Amino acid sequence: MNAAIRAVAKVAAARDTPVWGIINGFDGLIDGRFRPLTRRAGKGAALSPMPDVEYAGGLGGTVLGTARSPRFMTREGRSQAAATYEEYSLEGLIVIGGNGTMEGAHHLYLEHGVRVVGIPASIDNDIGLTRESIGVDTALNTIVEACDRISDTAASHHRAFIVEVMGRNSGYLAMAAAVATAADAVLLPEQGRGPDEIVKAVVDVLHQSFDASREKRRVLILKAEGVQIPTEELVDRVRQEMGSDEIEIRGTILGHIVRGGNPSFRDRLIAGRFGLVAVNAVLDGHTDVMAGWNIEEQNGIPTSDTWIKLFPIPDVIAETEALLDGSSHVTIDRVRRMEEIHGVLSI
Ligand code: F6P
Repeated sequence: MNAAIRAVAKVAAARDTPVWGIINGFDGLIDGRFRPLTRRAGKGAALSPMPDVEYAGGLGGTVLGTARSPRFMTREGRSQAAATYEEYSLEGLIVIGGNGTMEGAHHLYLEHGVRVVGIPASIDNDIGLTRESIGVDTALNTIVEACDRISDTAASHHRAFIVEVMGRNSGYLAMAAAVATAADAVLLPEQGRGPDEIVKAVVDVLHQSFDASREKRRVLILKAEGVQIPTEELVDRVRQEMGSDEIEIRGTILGHIVRGGNPSFRDRLIAGRFGLVAVNAVLDGHTDVMAGWNIEEQNGIPTSDTWIKLFPIPDVIAETEALLDGSSHVTIDRVRRMEEIHGVLSI
């Protein structure tokens, strides 16, 4: 997110447009908690990004802070936020975040006509109408590195590991990491399997993979957080099922480790390009839209970046719901591809 903040500050400064950062998201907008992201270094000097903002572009998290804002969930809170927007004569709001952020922005537009442009950011990759969101690539790089490290122990000791990664409602991280780490299996919420079915699937993979003829040194199973059985319980139940079989199995939950860290090259690139498109969108008068990466749907508004289109936020919200309830063609395609390689993963 810092890379996107930096890009917005740089592009806007180049367009001679001052930018204020809002501390703690919508909550800070209610209270008028701002900090400058651009400045004029001297009288008559051109606008430039604040030095700390330029530096922060390569850091994880967000220098502006973020917060879940119960006040903003209310009409009253949103009226206060819109009043601040008017009071400071702001000309547009660039929001960076996930589905909740887009919904909040859409309400501000609907109820108060605030000009809003969204940049998708969520490691879960569960935002509609963008193939990729800011944070996904960095998270995947962290997961791959962690799995490589875990594989060192696994292969040395001939062990099986179940590695849980974030993804409360979406198995994207587990899915993509499974391919990149040559895992032996992947467990996703989208597969809709109950605990018994999952235990059986894992036991089958272990038997098959550790069959003596295979001479396999390690088994790695990627599990998304949203899968219907906690990792510890899964490991215990698999151990019980395996009984006297001499297969050692361990569970590791990567948790919030996956969410921090300096952004990867790809995340910085995507964030930079989103930032440029978002500033242009505000200056061109667009509103209630989100920038989407590499989406072919025709209803998007083209931008100067051939990889990015602007999509109406209501369409983004509807597609996000479809992604999560499994009815989106994107989810159906992801699960289909996973089923297709099911037999390949365990080879
Ligand atoms: O960013 C989304 C997400 O990473 C989910 O996958 C995860 O369940 C959640 O955030 C964790 O959020 P919190 O930091 O509030 O526990």
